[in-house]
Amino acid sequence: MTRTALVTGGSRGIGAAISVALKEAGYKVAANYAGNDEAAQKFTAETGIRTYKWSVADYDACASGIAKVEAEVGPIDVLVNNAGITRDAPFHKMSREQWNEVINTNLNGVFNMTHPVWPGMRERKFGRVITISSINGQKGQFGQANYSASKAGDLGFTRALAQEGARFGITVNAICPGYIATDMVMAVPEKVRESIIAQIPVGRLGEATEIARCVVFLASDDAGFITGSTISANGGQYFA
Ligand code: CAA
Repeated sequence: MTRTALVTGGSRGIGAAISVALKEAGYKVAANYAGNDEAAQKFTAETGIRTYKWSVADYDACASGIAKVEAEVGPIDVLVNNAGITRDAPFHKMSREQWNEVINTNLNGVFNMTHPVWPGMRERKFGRVITISSINGQKGQFGQANYSASKAGDLGFTRALAQEGARFGITVNAICPGYIATDMVMAVPEKVRESIIAQIPVGRLGEATEIARCVVFLASDDAGFITGSTISANGGQYFA
């Protein structure tokens, strides 16, 4: 039976690589996105993967978006919580908006997406919830009190929910990418980025496909004994 995967933020960056890798691995894939219509249309034209627009920060939008995906593609067997944003600023300059936007997308968004798919996974006795956290949720990062808090929260969520899903055949895991060559990292000032690369023992940024391969593994039946864990893929920058 062909399984269905839903990837949030799935039309760009790491999410796009995950969507494509899951499709190549034989899944029916739906990619959610929040804002960039042009990128989503291009992604669908190039890959044949359907895209669905809603904000993961909005619970009701998630519930109705998921219902639409389930009707058009299939019941969600694999949920990849990938959507994430940054609003970097040193804490003394960080606004309440910058704090709330990041928490609402990166942490509340994971609740908003997982909560509606959870009852179906429990009923069908199978599920994979894979959340893309970050090295900066593990180690903290100057200028990212909001982002680091949200990504650390994603790890706590993963470890708690893994215990609840276990007897229903649902695994819940996280991946902590290090610095990957995506628009998000390219938005960091060049001088700062160069100093970051200097701290990565393998001497380069990661590729989105290197994260996508971790997702395909965690989604597979082979990974059924792995739950509540975190895969760090960061070029040796930090050992959690
Ligand atoms: N450690 C210690 N001090 C630092 C520092 C650091 N890492 N970064 C900056 N500072 C210091 C500066 O030297 C400066 O000190 P002085 O005032 O004494 O000169 C002070 O902090 C303020 O720096 P700026 O004037 O540059 O402050 P700013 O408001 O213009 O910007 C910043 C600060 C937003 C944090 C900017 O440095 C930045 O963007 N840093 C990168 C943060 C980062 O790594 N983000 C990751 C994005 S990618 C991602 O999030 C994906 C993922 O999961 C990995």
